[in-house]
Amino acid sequence: MENNLVSNWCKNVQTLPESYIFPEDERPGEPIVPLSGSSPIIDLTTHQHDQAQQIIKASQDFGYFQVINHGISETLLEETVDVLKEFFEMPAKEKAKYYSVDPNSKCKLYTSTMNYSNEDKHYWRDALAHHCHPIQHFLPFWPEKPTRYREVISAYSIETRKLITKISDVISEGLGLEKGYFGGELSKVQMLLVNCYPPCPDPNLALGMHSHCDPNLFTILLQDNVCGLQIFKDGKWIAVEPIPNAFVVIIGCQLQIISNNKLKSVIHRAVTNSKETRICVGNFVIPSSDCHIEPASDLVNGTTNIPAYKPYQYKEFLHTYATNHGDFEAVLQSYKL
Ligand code: OGA
Ligand code: NI
Repeated sequence: MENNLVSNWCKNVQTLPESYIFPEDERPGEPIVPLSGSSPIIDLTTHQHDQAQQIIKASQDFGYFQVINHGISETLLEETVDVLKEFFEMPAKEKAKYYSVDPNSKCKLYTSTMNYSNEDKHYWRDALAHHCHPIQHFLPFWPEKPTRYREVISAYSIETRKLITKISDVISEGLGLEKGYFGGELSKVQMLLVNCYPPCPDPNLALGMHSHCDPNLFTILLQDNVCGLQIFKDGKWIAVEPIPNAFVVIIGCQLQIISNNKLKSVIHRAVTNSKETRICVGNFVIPSSDCHIEPASDLVNGTTNIPAYKPYQYKEFLHTYATNHGDFEAVLQSYKL
C-alpha cells in the first residue's frame, strides 16, 4: 500500500494513469487569475485596528486572505519547505515507516485521501499529518528523518503558533469579541498537514485536492511559490497566487458559525502542474473534540441578530462533515436554525 505514494513512482510514468483521470466536468479547466491588487493582502505591521477591519472585510468577501510582514523569518520558512521536500524525496523504504491510514495514528503519511482503497479516482497528492502543540507531547511521534526534521518543524510550529494567536486576536477584535476569545478550547489543537504535489504528466485531467471547505476554525497555509491553490467565488475557480513568504489564511466552517455568518468559510481545491513539485504546508487550528460551539453570544443579542446555527460539540460536527464528504452547504444545513 505504501508504494502507492505518488512521490514514489511518478518519475517512472509518462502518461497519467486511468485512475487519476477525472470525468470531464470535474477537470480543472482554466482558472481565473486575479488582477494584481484584487486579492486580499494584510500587512501585519500596520495598526491593529486597521488590520482588524481589513481581515473582517476580506473574510466576508473572499473567505481567505494572505498575511505579509508576519515576523517569521524567511530562513525558517525556506528551511521548513526544504526539509519537507526532502522528506517526500526520501527512498520509498524510508517513507514506508510512516505510511498509515488509521485515523488514530499519531503520524500519518498517505496518498490521495485517507479513503484511497474505496475512492473512484485518486488525487495527485501525498500528505503527511501530525499534531504539533504542545510540541513535547507530540514530537516523539514525528519523523526522525531527514535528520533536521524535528529541529526545523519544532521551530516552525512554535512560530506559527504565535502567528495563530496574533491572527485570532485580530479576528476577535474585528468581530467585537474580547481578546483571547479564540484561545483555549477553540484553538486547542494544532495540526500540521503537509501536501506534496509532484509534477503531474497531465495537469488538465488530474486534481491535487478535492473541492472542500476546512471544517476547523481556520487554517494557515504556506505555499511554496508554485501555483496550485484555487478558491471558488461567484461560481468560478480563482487562483490564489503565491506571494513569497506570505501565509494564506483560510476561514474554516467554525469561524463562519461562531461569527454567525459575519465571516465566510471558502470552498477551495488544489490543481497540479507538470513542471515542479509543489509543497503546501497547512497548519490547522482546531477546537478540542468536546468543545461546545455556537454563534458567539455577543453577536446574537437583540432582536435583529438572531442565531443562525444551533449549538453542538465539535466532534458531532466532524461526524456530519465526514458523512457529507465535506459538502459545505449540506454540512451547514444540518446546524442551521
Ligand atoms: C488543505 C488545503 C490546499 C493546498 O490542506 O486543506 O486546502 O494547496 N490545501 O494544498
Ligand atoms: Ni483546505
